[in-house]
Amino acid sequence: MQELRIHPKGPHVSRLVYGAWRMLDSDLSSSDVERNIQTCIELGINWFDHADIYGNYGCEEFFGSVYKKIKSKLPQIHFVTKADIMLFSDKYPNRKVKHYDTSPKHIELSVDNSLKYLGIDKIDILLLHRPDPLMNADETGVCLDQLIEKGKIAYVGVSNFSPSQFSLLQSRMKNPLVTNQIEVSLKKLDSLVNGDLDYLYQQKIRPMSWSPLGGGSLMRSVAELQKSNPNKEISKHERSIPSLSEILVQLSEKYNTTENAMALSWLLRHPSDIIPVIGSNSSERIHQMAKSMEIELDREDWFLLYQSALGKEVP
Ligand SMILES: NC(=O)c1ccc[n+]([C@@H]2O[C@H](COP(=O)([O-])OP(=O)(O)OC[C@H]3O[C@@H](n4cnc5c(N)ncnc54)[C@H](OP(=O)(O)O)[C@@H]3O)[C@@H](O)[C@H]2O)c1
Repeated sequence: MQELRIHPKGPHVSRLVYGAWRMLDSDLSSSDVERNIQTCIELGINWFDHADIYGNYGCEEFFGSVYKKIKSKLPQIHFVTKADIMLFSDKYPNRKVKHYDTSPKHIELSVDNSLKYLGIDKIDILLLHRPDPLMNADETGVCLDQLIEKGKIAYVGVSNFSPSQFSLLQSRMKNPLVTNQIEVSLKKLDSLVNGDLDYLYQQKIRPMSWSPLGGGSLMRSVAELQKSNPNKEISKHERSIPSLSEILVQLSEKYNTTENAMALSWLLRHPSDIIPVIGSNSSERIHQMAKSMEIELDREDWFLLYQSALGKEVP
């Protein structure tokens, strides 16, 4: 699998990254997780995306328990994890409200926990998970630089930051912010036109995209979406999905591939070199998605997908 340098002063990262967010959603056993790790590695996907909060603070520990058993047999793998979201959770009964905490005390504690749960000596990239309106950029910036100096993390980045939030934090740090992990997909198009991707592209920073398949909704019809969540109001945008899913089917036939791979190839075609973080728990789908690397998506086909995702012709 191709690798990309995520930042001119950052590490090389596999073209697809595997995300562990849904690992505890579907009763996976340790051997399922082991199989998915092995599948990723066989395909060259050797970066794994975590967060302290995934699985109500349980995913890192579960993944770590599997990883510890098999790591002597594995080639080196790399870890991204995140800190700063404070979930309203039964694990923290004294917490009154979901909030963010970018204070040095919390960030360092969160890093120490992630290292312990994952069973590793160093986090390859630590991301601040969400912009915190109460972030003291000086204190947080110094803390992140110190975590690098102490050897607990190799690189730092952010997630869901606007360009101005990104440059504010960067202005208070010695080390570079190597990425911004944002939601971008055929379901979530804002960053193509609001300057978020332009900013990263201009700075030669590769974006990571979370939920690159819209959490699977790209492949589901409106009826299926409504059935899985009857209380959810289906937005106008989601109503455009049936035609988008039809185009995905059509193009996957043309390119002799699957709809998953087709939707990823749309992201991979963007010149900012978006790195999708895939979240399937199915080994078969992970295999399908790796095929997205082989697709050379034609310009007009890219716009065909874009148009059906927008629900209208481009202006
Ligand atoms: N930074 C952030 O704020 C943030 C937020 C959310 C997520 N993330 C990261 O992004 C990663 C990926 O997010 P995601 O899981 O939402 O990614 P995704 O790849 O968009 O969605 C994965 C989901 O789609 C389903 N799916 C895939 N193909 C399908 C198909 N053909 N038909 C029906 N369902 C299909 C998968 O089900 P199966 O398992 O059955 O294949 C899985 O439930 C997470 O693991 C996490 O690491 C980051």
